[in-house]
Amino acid sequence: MNSGAESSTDSGRAGEVVLELIKLRKSFGGVVAVGGLDATVHQGEITGLIGPNGSGKTTTFSLITGTTRADSGNVLLGGEEITSWRTHRIANRGLLRTFQLTRVFPQMTVFENLTVRSGARRVTRESLVWELAEIVGLHTKLDEYAGALSFGQQKLLELVRASALQPSVMLLDEPFAGVNETMERHLVDFIQHVRRERKCSFFLIDHEMQLIMELCDHIYVIASGSLICEGPPAVVQADQATRQAYFGSGFIAGARR
Ligand SMILES: Nc1ncnc2c1ncn2[C@@H]1O[C@H](COP(=O)(O)OP(=O)(O)OP(=O)(O)O)[C@@H](O)[C@H]1O
Ligand SMILES: [Mg+2]
Repeated sequence: MNSGAESSTDSGRAGEVVLELIKLRKSFGGVVAVGGLDATVHQGEITGLIGPNGSGKTTTFSLITGTTRADSGNVLLGGEEITSWRTHRIANRGLLRTFQLTRVFPQMTVFENLTVRSGARRVTRESLVWELAEIVGLHTKLDEYAGALSFGQQKLLELVRASALQPSVMLLDEPFAGVNETMERHLVDFIQHVRRERKCSFFLIDHEMQLIMELCDHIYVIASGSLICEGPPAVVQADQATRQAYFGSGFIAGARR
């Protein structure tokens, strides 16, 4: 275990710390997007990051992956300081991200999308692409243009593509947004498969509370860039500050948005 695993906020969580955020801070003009956030993702865990719109979730991911520079604070991957690293170097070290809006290449086939290089990282085994695509039914669409896929299928494609690069940590920004319930099930099954079979850890943002509660081992709740609650799903669900932050968003009733 690295030193981060000893942190008092980590009690009761299994596995080594694979990703650690220490007092991470970022402002845009007068807006504090991320206000000194401490958080950890542990080996084999699915860790949730939730909060109302504009609370700093996507910015947190951008700070982790180096697409946005932090004002202060640190990001450690496997105990190694990566705060000032460029995105491709971080990806090459095994941390990959999917986006709130899908980023497939519409003029390329599904297969080409799945085997395209991502910075210095590339697919090392084509059979792995087949294996992963088959789990979600994309193997029958390998020759189709990605642009012809439904929105939900494109989200699956993005997730399969990242998984085929065999990351150790994946950041998923709203994977369930805008997809139907059948596709949600495919995504959930796939995430669980990759966690189990490929030993990947996940940091997951979404507004679909039922799925967050079903999938996550540990959840961080932020509002206006600051942590208001963390813990396993049952603790977060019962937390008064979290309920207030989500008032009116369907969280209290556990209903779908
Ligand atoms: N590039 C930017 N320039 C200026 N302000 C920004 C920028 N990116 C984010 N912000 C602001 O920072 C705050 C946090 O935004 P962020 O996108 O991280 O929220 P979020 O929690 O991901 O929201 P959502 O749930 O709607 O996706 C918001 O007030 C947003 O307007
Ligand atoms: Mg966002």
